Amino acid sequence: MIESIHQDHKNIMGLLQVLSNKVNLLKEDKKIDYKVIKAIIMYLKKYADKYHHPMEDLIYAYYLKYRVVSDQVANRLSDEHQQLKVITRELDDMVDMVLLDAIVPKELFIEKLELFVTRQQQHLDYEEKKVLPAIKKSLTPDDWESLRQQWKHHEYVDPLFGDKISEEFKSLAKLLNQA
Ligand SMILES: [Fe+2]
Ligand SMILES: [Fe+2]
Repeated sequence: MIESIHQDHKNIMGLLQVLSNKVNLLKEDKKIDYKVIKAIIMYLKKYADKYHHPMEDLIYAYYLKYRVVSDQVANRLSDEHQQLKVITRELDDMVDMVLLDAIVPKELFIEKLELFVTRQQQHLDYEEKKVLPAIKKSLTPDDWESLRQQWKHHEYVDPLFGDKISEEFKSLAKLLNQA
């Protein structure tokens, strides 16, 4: 499980890099393909918010119950998952407006996208540097076995980075391979 979380983080980092490049292009007044942003958001909504974060939440909850960790860490993680969900939805709405040709001030869009990338990166960073190392150190093989049994989505495959890319993400996958 922890490997799959690390792998997800690497994948998500790559996607955030793509978004961050879009921010730079927009700042230079260059044209960008908003459909790419839309596809990345769809992936984060369908995969990160639905499977990645719940898997982390399960592990974190277990960790908090059986090991000593400050409430501050616990609250921060669950708050951030909630916040990320909200800002993902807000950005998604804004991209939809752009795709529908509604007027969205460019500065506002840049601000939103940049904030989104920063927040996501900070969250990944916190997990990778602080939370996961602590969990790795203290959970035993039995703990992991018990967690595996509690996880209910074993059948789920990553629609973008998994073995079988879903139709919806084929063009995004192609673009990522070119980069
Ligand atoms: Fe997380
Ligand atoms: Fe994560």
